Amino acid sequence: MRFVNSVRRTRDAVALSAIILILLCGSQHAAASVHFDKETNVFRLDGGDITYVIGLNRQGEVQTLYWGERLPENQQFPAAQAISGLSSFEMPVNTTPQEYTGWGGALYVEPDLKVTFPDGNRDLVLKYVSHTTGEDRIDILLKDISRDVYVTLQYQIDQQTGILRRSADIENRTKQPFTIEQVASGTWNLPRNTDYRLHYVTGRWAGEWSLQSQPIHGGKTVLESRRGTTGAQNNPWFMIDQAASDDQDQGRVWFGALGWSGSWAITVEQNALQDVRITGGPNSFDFAYLLKSGDHFQTPQFYGGFSDKGLGGTSRLLHRYETDRILPNSPSRKLRPVLYNSWEATTFNVDESGQMALAEKAASLGVERFVMDDGWFGQRKTDHAGLGDWYVNPQKFPHGLKPLIDKVHALHMDFGLWVEPEMVNPDSDLYRKHSDWVLNFAGRPRTEGRNQLILNLARPDVHDYVLQWLDKLLTDNDISFIKWDYNRNWSEPGWPAVPVEQQKNIYIDFTRNVYDILAQLRKRHPNVEFESCSGGGGRVDLGIMALTDEVWPSDNTDAYDRLVIQDGFTYAYTPGVMMAWVTDSPTWVNQRTLSLEYRFLSSMQGSLGIGANLNKWSPEDIALAKKMVADYKSIRETVQRGSLYRLRSPREGEQSITESVSRDGQQAVVFAFLHSSTENYPFPRVYMRGLDENATYALRPLAGKVASNTPTAATGAYWMHRGVDLELRGDFQAMGVILQRK
Ligand code: GLA
Repeated sequence: MRFVNSVRRTRDAVALSAIILILLCGSQHAAASVHFDKETNVFRLDGGDITYVIGLNRQGEVQTLYWGERLPENQQFPAAQAISGLSSFEMPVNTTPQEYTGWGGALYVEPDLKVTFPDGNRDLVLKYVSHTTGEDRIDILLKDISRDVYVTLQYQIDQQTGILRRSADIENRTKQPFTIEQVASGTWNLPRNTDYRLHYVTGRWAGEWSLQSQPIHGGKTVLESRRGTTGAQNNPWFMIDQAASDDQDQGRVWFGALGWSGSWAITVEQNALQDVRITGGPNSFDFAYLLKSGDHFQTPQFYGGFSDKGLGGTSRLLHRYETDRILPNSPSRKLRPVLYNSWEATTFNVDESGQMALAEKAASLGVERFVMDDGWFGQRKTDHAGLGDWYVNPQKFPHGLKPLIDKVHALHMDFGLWVEPEMVNPDSDLYRKHSDWVLNFAGRPRTEGRNQLILNLARPDVHDYVLQWLDKLLTDNDISFIKWDYNRNWSEPGWPAVPVEQQKNIYIDFTRNVYDILAQLRKRHPNVEFESCSGGGGRVDLGIMALTDEVWPSDNTDAYDRLVIQDGFTYAYTPGVMMAWVTDSPTWVNQRTLSLEYRFLSSMQGSLGIGANLNKWSPEDIALAKKMVADYKSIRETVQRGSLYRLRSPREGEQSITESVSRDGQQAVVFAFLHSSTENYPFPRVYMRGLDENATYALRPLAGKVASNTPTAATGAYWMHRGVDLELRGDFQAMGVILQRK
């Protein structure tokens, strides 16, 4: 009897864990799988709706065979065959779609790895040695044809999204060091087609995330940063679709994103047969890495995926992957709290009583996290001094931070603080003591940006110093959130303290140490959350996102400009990390005046914050803000974790409309903005997406009015096919609509 019970219990437990697993994975997809066919030497990875196939050709090269829609399990692939270059000017090595190439032989296309050996030899030709496979991963070991340089290509496929994570491990098993002059995580090869379009983002301070789209022609397009950090000029992300695609819903799209927060490059090129290949990794400009005998070099992760649901479907897939796989504590990470930040209200003029007064007002609105920005430390009165001296300024906070933190807690908010750990002002005690700690070339000028220099985090002593003071700050104070800022890019990237041949390792060691500090802090202070900020969106990539909980997309808080910025941002990154503050009007950026309701609705498209001077708000403003904050809390799960549909892009005309549908399908939220109405035309009808045709949804305006003949409840089919008319007329008008499933 006991035996039977225990069998039943075990069976129930197994069934239950299967159900839990299915719920957790939220997946209708078959499990990820990896197969190797010994006959044909073909590897196949399946995950989500994707199949990725690579094979070994007779030359021992690893060749891409297929990347696209998931294929039936019994579909066999013929063995890989090198592709002839057509003439003596194009050896097959240039036209065979290889997964990873050493620069050697007659290679002219972008290599993945280029080295110089101490004897002057620069020829590197990598061939297959062996492989191992796991449930969702493959490691393929390559080796140079004569020297003991080993490269392991590492692949992992995600069961839910079919997104592949690729990286390469380079090992020096020779007896001497050699120099890596160029290194990539891998190359993605697209199926043969001549109508590809490349989508990427460009930007600058206060104008990040402009989406660019262009046909892929012959030659190379290089997306890159030479700035020592991710940068806003380009972002390490791309999507490629075909000219015939319907932008948001249909069409085959291939995409990639690099998890690296140092200088990086993604090269999109056509080979002599017009085949498109994309190579990505640390930027090779001014690059070198001395790899000692016995050492390994692990490249950053390069993520890649495919969707046949257009650019819109592709960003939804990417958001899902970021939320469930990349971000800390995923898949069950916390929703973003509604935050208040003091920066635009006070700039550097923070002090105990001023912050306490703001905290009281913020709490009365329903804010959950109070963040004190720049100005609390050292001799920081302007941006000319103080960075590097991370003690609490005794004039501004005579009793330390504790009274303010206690007050914030008493108001039922948690407390956050701004820091800029990698920087130093020449006017600081730290610089006066350690002027050798910054990036510099001996005897050369040190270019300042915002009156600051960059600490060389590649140095072990600087790494230890930064980790130590941050750890102490978090140990001594009850802090829940750190806004980690980075307000300039590199110049004179010298590291005179190490031998010349090792100095360029700075490009790698610096970024690795930033990651290491964040990782150690997270481990020691697991309840502290971090935001990545770089004067706005200058350090947003999947590398930093694996260690931070949210990002600051732009210092531009003009709610109208933000529509375009947020639109571009969400092509690559989830609204669940996209902080968006409501600030004062007219904005400092454009002197534009916008209603408080408009500003709230724009910020509610992401993770809501308030960054205004609350001392100036009228009782009506406060009342409206309370309502909007409460409304936001009722929809934030949908906005932050749901599926985002771009119904009308702010880049295209007078209107902007987005819709988010919650994961459980219970709620949909629409945000609609009108720039300027003209000639008495009505606002375009809104046709919703992503609803269940047969379910009934009740409609409630979040702000503004729907047409008087709108039903209060209707089927998903009605909202999607008949649509809803919004009463929007005038300049800079906005409204929102919530649909709740009955
Ligand atoms: C950067 C940030 C701002 C603010 C200031 C403080 O510009 O992006 O949000 O924190 O620094 O100096």
